[in-house]
Amino acid sequence: MSGKSLLGLWLYRSGESWSIKEAPPIPQLPQSEFRNPNALARNSIIFSLKNQVGGLARVLQVFQDLGVNVVHIESRPSARADSEFEILVEVECDNKKMEQVVALLRREVAAISLTTFEEGVELPPPTLSSTASFDFEEIPWFPKKIQDLDKSQKVLMYGEELDAEHPGFKDPVYRKRRETFATIARTYKHGQPIPKVQYTPEEIKTWGTVFRELHKLYVKHACKEYLDNWPELVKYCGYREDNIPQLQDISTYLKRKTGYQLRPVAGYLSARDFLAGLAFRVFHCTQYIRHSSDPYYTPEPDCCHELLGHMPLLACPSFAQFSQELGLISLGASENDIEKLATLYFFTVEFGLCKQDGELKVYGAGLLSSIAELKHAIEAKEKIKRFDPEITCKEECIITSFQNAYYYTDSFEEAKEKMRAYAMNIERPFGVRYNPYTQTVEILSNAQKITALVSELRGDLCIVSNALKQIHAQEETVETIAHMLQQGINLAPEEKKNNHEEK
Ligand SMILES: [Fe+2]
Repeated sequence: MSGKSLLGLWLYRSGESWSIKEAPPIPQLPQSEFRNPNALARNSIIFSLKNQVGGLARVLQVFQDLGVNVVHIESRPSARADSEFEILVEVECDNKKMEQVVALLRREVAAISLTTFEEGVELPPPTLSSTASFDFEEIPWFPKKIQDLDKSQKVLMYGEELDAEHPGFKDPVYRKRRETFATIARTYKHGQPIPKVQYTPEEIKTWGTVFRELHKLYVKHACKEYLDNWPELVKYCGYREDNIPQLQDISTYLKRKTGYQLRPVAGYLSARDFLAGLAFRVFHCTQYIRHSSDPYYTPEPDCCHELLGHMPLLACPSFAQFSQELGLISLGASENDIEKLATLYFFTVEFGLCKQDGELKVYGAGLLSSIAELKHAIEAKEKIKRFDPEITCKEECIITSFQNAYYYTDSFEEAKEKMRAYAMNIERPFGVRYNPYTQTVEILSNAQKITALVSELRGDLCIVSNALKQIHAQEETVETIAHMLQQGINLAPEEKKNNHEEK
């Protein structure tokens, strides 16, 4: 159906007849096939429309002007504002056309949410929960389900294009090679296996040089969690001096350990897109390696940085949770808040230190993948400060030289607690929670949704309570758990603080 006949159809279907179709079972996609970016896909758009004269006509004109085939359209009165309607439109078009549709629609509608159907496969219809009860007008778009990460891939730097400062700029063979990696990342869609790469002898040699030198430092300086996970990476993922591990193997391993998975990326991703991935326990990971002319230098993250720096920590449950919480805080945050969160990520996940058995150890991937800066950070005692998000978020992030300061905590738990307190400052009219069963982000925007979540959590708390009884837990353990729960809910911190002080 072309856009031309849309108006008449919509007029017949509008009103109270909204119904959500029963979800059909989801067939498995063939694992080995790549999706053609130009292929037609089913997409679904839900938007809220202000009830103004001509508003709908202008929106429908967008589909018509772009020649997009609309296959289904429905509407109902909006649950979030009396003066609005919610409209569901299903279309068939390629990804490029879809981007144009969304860009034009954003000028006309009050709130928007997207669903992409896999080629030839019908997925459950979208729900309207994400647009139901607050005003999205001022909130930046963010992925609501794991497949939405396919749309959050804004590569800011490098990728296929290297600048004149890059060591590989004048090497046509290296540049050609980078195009291969960029194509893998650009065409990758969630759920596909990450293509395995046949690394060249020259690439393996570069990896081996970095691997050998760094490994000498890990024994002395890497944190306990890093060292604990290393043998498994050797055993299950092929971490060796003469072998560059494959992203898919690591992704499979991490999924089993902490639920994290990898997604190939072509270069520097925007902070917003990168942090959004963490919310879903998805880590954007480069697959190419630095230029062989200088194995100890890279102006950008490469597989040495990702695989040697990040992966061992992503296999640690406490650290995995810390990273995900950083991601969840970022969803829908303002540009200003994203900048601060990116800085906090930088000085923890990339350059963080922790105290273990009275000694400073390293967990930041930027340090664990840089021989020179790792040595510098450990020796520069005057630069090492206690992590405080309010202060750390103002620190300058330096890419081309050593940092002016490094921050430490006693544990990941301490970093988490501090970040949770900091998250209270993020201006966002709702909370978010990741639902691992549906791989979606739930938007907690009203009392009803929060009550439903608490009811779900009660189930887990009953399990805790029963287990404590079964093991005849000591009073001390029960008290510790009760304290943790009380701290966790933290409903009126100011009031409690005052009461405490009065005592
Ligand atoms: Fe990194």
